[in-house]
Formats: sequence, C-alpha cells, structure tokens
Amino acid sequence: MAAALQTNTRLNPINVVPGRSLTNPSRAPCRVRCAAASPGKKRFNIALLPGDGIGPEVISVAKNVLQQAGSLEGLEFNFQEMPVGGAALDLVGVPLPEESFAAAKQSDAILLGAIGGYKWDNNEKHLRPEMALFYLRRDLKVFANLRPATVLPQLVDASTLKREVAEGVDMMIVRELTGGIYFGEPRGIKTNENGEEVGFNTEFYAAHEIDRIARVAFETARKRRGKLCSVDKANVLDASILWRRRVTALASEYPDVELTHMYVDNAAMQLIRDPKQFDTIVTNNIFGDILSDEASMITGSIGMLPSASLGVSGPGLFEPIHGSAPDIAGQDKANPLATVLSAAMLLKYGLGEEKAAKRIEDAVLDTLNKGFRTGDIYSPGNKLVGCKEMGEEVLKSVDSKVTATV
Ligand code: IPM
Ligand code: MG
Repeated sequence: MAAALQTNTRLNPINVVPGRSLTNPSRAPCRVRCAAASPGKKRFNIALLPGDGIGPEVISVAKNVLQQAGSLEGLEFNFQEMPVGGAALDLVGVPLPEESFAAAKQSDAILLGAIGGYKWDNNEKHLRPEMALFYLRRDLKVFANLRPATVLPQLVDASTLKREVAEGVDMMIVRELTGGIYFGEPRGIKTNENGEEVGFNTEFYAAHEIDRIARVAFETARKRRGKLCSVDKANVLDASILWRRRVTALASEYPDVELTHMYVDNAAMQLIRDPKQFDTIVTNNIFGDILSDEASMITGSIGMLPSASLGVSGPGLFEPIHGSAPDIAGQDKANPLATVLSAAMLLKYGLGEEKAAKRIEDAVLDTLNKGFRTGDIYSPGNKLVGCKEMGEEVLKSVDSKVTATV
C-alpha cells in the first residue's frame, strides 16, 4: 500500500537524523490498526507536515479535499499533523524532531506543505528549516522525484510564453533527489593555504544511483508518450559522463522508449523555445531543481504544480513544488491547488488509489472551468478568490461530480 517503485536496485542504509524530542507529542502510532473497523472501508495513516509560511493554509485545504474524495471511494484517513522546518525550530529548536520523522516514517504517505521563511534565513546551516526537507528525503530514501508540468487549457493565458508555444505542454520531470551535489562529500567552507576562504561542494553519483533513477524514468516514459530526454553536462562534468554512460546502457532494456540526451544549458533554452518537444525528462538533483522551476512557469504558476517523491519501499513524500511564500503567508492569498494536486499524486502513486485521485484532478479542472482563480493565476473575466474559497469550490466540485454521476 505504501509507495513502491519497481526497481531491482537496493538503497544504502542511512542514519536517521538525530533531533530533540517534542515535549508533548500527541502520538498515536498504531491508530490505524487500533481503530474500530468500518466495514468495507480501507484505512490509511497520513502524516501531515504543514511546515511554514503558506504551508498550513494549503495543507488545511488539501486535507479536506483528500478526506472528501477518499470517503467517496471508501477510504478512511487518520491524519497525524506534525511540525517541521521553521515551525519545529520555534517549538523545539530542531528542523526535524524525532517524533515528526517517526510519524512520517510510520505513515502510509506524507503530505508536506512548505518550508522556510525570512525569520530563519540567518540561522546556522544545520538549523535552517530546509534541513528538514533534506533529512526527510534522505532518511525516507525517496530518491525519485516526479514533477509533472502540464499546461491546462484553462490556464494557457497565465503562461508567460505565447499561446502557440505553451498550449498542449505536458511533461514529467524525473529528478534524482537524494544524491548529487546536494549531498556529496567533501563539502564545506574553509580557509585555504593562502588564508582565503573557499566554499566547495561535490557532485557525486554512484552507478547504482544513476541506474535506479534512470529505471524510474524509463518506466515513467513508457507509460506516457515513450520519449525520454536525459539532461546532463557531460561536456564538462565527470559525474555527468558517468550519468550519460549508465543511462545509455540501460536503454537497450527499454526498446519501446526513445532516449535522447541534452546538455542542461541547451535544455534550459529548449524548455522556453519549444517545450512541447519534451515528454519525460530525467536529470540529477540540482539540474532537476532548476529546470522544474523553469518548467513550472510555462504552466502559468508554480502555485499549480505538485510533486511526488518515492523510494523502493516505505511512504512517499508528496508536496507542492512552490516554497513557503512568506510574503503572502496568513493572508488567505495562496493558491492551494498545487497541494491539492499533490494529494491526488499521494492517492495515485502513494496509495494506488487512482479513482480517488481522479476525483480530485477532475474537481480541480471543474473549479478552474467555473472561472475561480487565486491571484497568481488570475486573468480578467475570472473570479478572484482566496485560498479558503478556492478550497471550498474544489470541495463543491468533488461533491457535484458525485451528484452528476449518480
Ligand atoms: C525544491 C526546493 C528545495 C530544493 C529547497 C527548498 C531546499 O527548491 O524542492 O525544489 O532545492 O530541493
Ligand atoms: Mg526548487
């Protein structure tokens, strides 16, 4: 029932992050198994990690939508909400308390809001909110990050690109999430022999890390339009030379997938010039970070894009790709749809509940069809709504679809 990718590779054991305990955690680790059974219902444990900034607002909307869509498909959820990021730093002084990690690890799937904010920007590195994200990704071993970028017909005009360039874009970026320069050693800031400070990081990929993400990408492409573009910098970086070699070697196992390679600078350009040429893209951690932000703009707003982070076993981590947007936090201006769509990915990729996922996706499209828009995707002639109202409209659409099909 938990997220599982079909790969035959194994993950290295990684230590769980040490952290101070929450003083009074309201933990109920076996709530699902202990709950009185409702006949015919499937039950899932969902860890909610709202985080910072607009995180709590968008998570609250997504939670309601998840619950509603799930109940229509006979699914029951036990939600356990835990602090991460800046919220956890304020509460107990660490970005990822042990209890938050344990709740996440024991769940069937994790829905995360956003992490970070001005308040903690000057914290020492190990006390930065973002560390929670890295610990979660690393220790849950969710190496495969799926970031779809689809231009919805309703939002073509919100794209910064011309209609004829943006219309019909539908791609999936498969980003490697637990390796590369984000985690590579050696890293640090030190004083060199000339007494000058130097900062350094290491782009590091072992063959098995490349193979397992490439397999996910080939499988993903196979279920889509059968085209895979591997993005690297093999004209300069050794890690990319190995990357290209390994991806190329695997291609023979996927004769039905057309594999191409592209340097990352060219890929950045092609994404703007002719994004429709891409179906599935596979790339390393940092290139995936950058290209997925770029791709998101083609779709009109980063506020629309969900993501799924999956490992070989254990719960998947589902989160919008946008940040915590501290400038609009608490003002009911955030677009909750990326998180709502992340809840749909949670159902589909995390729990294998495709019907409930489809209910959410359909409800989002229906809400957009009715003209409801948050500020980031607003264009004249539509109805400007806040985060809460958008959530209420999506809920209505989830319900009205039922009435329509009964
Ligand atoms: C993302 C984010 C993170 C990343 C930040 C918040 C550390 O940009 O998920 O894309 O760089 O991975
Ligand atoms: Mg990013």
